[in-house]
Amino acid sequence: MKQTAKEFMSSISVDNMLYNEEVVASKAHARMLKQNKLISGEECDQLVEGLEQVQADIEAGKVAFSVEYEDIHGCIEQLLYEKIGPVAKKLNWARSVNDQVVTDTRLFLRDENESIMESLKELMDTLEQLAKEHVNTIMPGYSHLQRAQPITLAYHMLAYYQMFKRDLRRFENCMEGINVMPPDCGALAGTIFETDRKKMAKELGFDGILSNAMDSVADRDFGMEFINDCSITMMHLSRFCEDLILWSSVEFGFIEIDDEYTTGSRVLPQKKNLDVAELIRGKTGRVYGDMINLLTVFKGLPMSYNRDMQEDKYALLDAAQTVEVCVALFVEMIKSMKINRGEMQRAAKYGYMNATELAEYLMEKDVEPEKISEIISKVVLYAINHGKPIEELWLDDLKQFTQVFDSDVYDKVAIRNVIEAKKSTGSTSFKNVQKQIAEIAKAKK
Ligand code: ARG
Repeated sequence: MKQTAKEFMSSISVDNMLYNEEVVASKAHARMLKQNKLISGEECDQLVEGLEQVQADIEAGKVAFSVEYEDIHGCIEQLLYEKIGPVAKKLNWARSVNDQVVTDTRLFLRDENESIMESLKELMDTLEQLAKEHVNTIMPGYSHLQRAQPITLAYHMLAYYQMFKRDLRRFENCMEGINVMPPDCGALAGTIFETDRKKMAKELGFDGILSNAMDSVADRDFGMEFINDCSITMMHLSRFCEDLILWSSVEFGFIEIDDEYTTGSRVLPQKKNLDVAELIRGKTGRVYGDMINLLTVFKGLPMSYNRDMQEDKYALLDAAQTVEVCVALFVEMIKSMKINRGEMQRAAKYGYMNATELAEYLMEKDVEPEKISEIISKVVLYAINHGKPIEELWLDDLKQFTQVFDSDVYDKVAIRNVIEAKKSTGSTSFKNVQKQIAEIAKAKK
């Protein structure tokens, strides 16, 4: 591919997405210029109407975002000039592109941040619902991908709920950094005009104004924070996808993902591939890439604005849109998945995860500690060889290993009891899971 220098420098292919922000911020700027008597009321009306016409043309698909335009700022400036003539130039009083670009980016990210927060809330609601439906769905809890301790599906869903809750909090915090307006920056040192940024900030819904113009045009740390939050959310989603991929394999058989989110193989008809989950996992790599991209672009820049910074849009837009799409699709996917309680329960039974409770039982009966592990190994091996879970062995079978075993052992090793016996805060016990669900409901009120 060959490009002219002009094509190379143009960012319109990506920043055309900021057209709405550019128009909204420009209208606020025009009103401020009028209020401060820098332009007349009539000029202000011309500017505002002209901007609205430009916006309408863009939305009607009448504008080709050609590389002839340096960027969306230059494009709208040119289109406005074509509509209203030389008065269009007055809109550039007391502002610079360096200032416009960062103001628009902040406005855009504010919206993106809000949509992501909405999607995360929906994801949390879905997990809460799944938890409520599955307080009695017993499954193995894994460690090192080995069946380790019995839990419930509710408990598993609540673990993810907590992760996404922290993600949401991070996006909320991030808003503080995003939703602040640059002061009148000029190129970097301010302007000679007497302007009133406070009114503009209010009109544009910003929570405050930054203190230093040079800082405002030079940094994008609010965007870096945002992409960092996007990366962490993608990491959580990606792990969840990995669980779903494992769970829907024949080896696990715990769930079935709706056909809409999977593909079949023509050669291997028994296969159902979880392409959506795999792609979310894959796109996580892209978002991490966006983070490294943005950090790297900025690391060696001298103060203050440099053209390198134009590259920020590719990373920011890509990360925002990827997360937004992934969270929303993920929610739909888990809402429609079928859960095979029987298989989960079976895996829990045949996981021999109650061997620990069997050992505890012997300890409580004062069996010497050095003997306990030998007895337990033998019992588990015997159970495996006979294709039975521990709790389904006959008492006579158990007594071969030590006469200490009595009928009270069954209560001790029953999987439900193993779960219920957990006492610690945050545990998988049915009581504690109900408590966690109640806390979630309470926090919503
Ligand atoms: N499109 C550029 C960006 O996104 C802004 C261009 C800066 N041009 C200028 N005259 N300051 O960073």
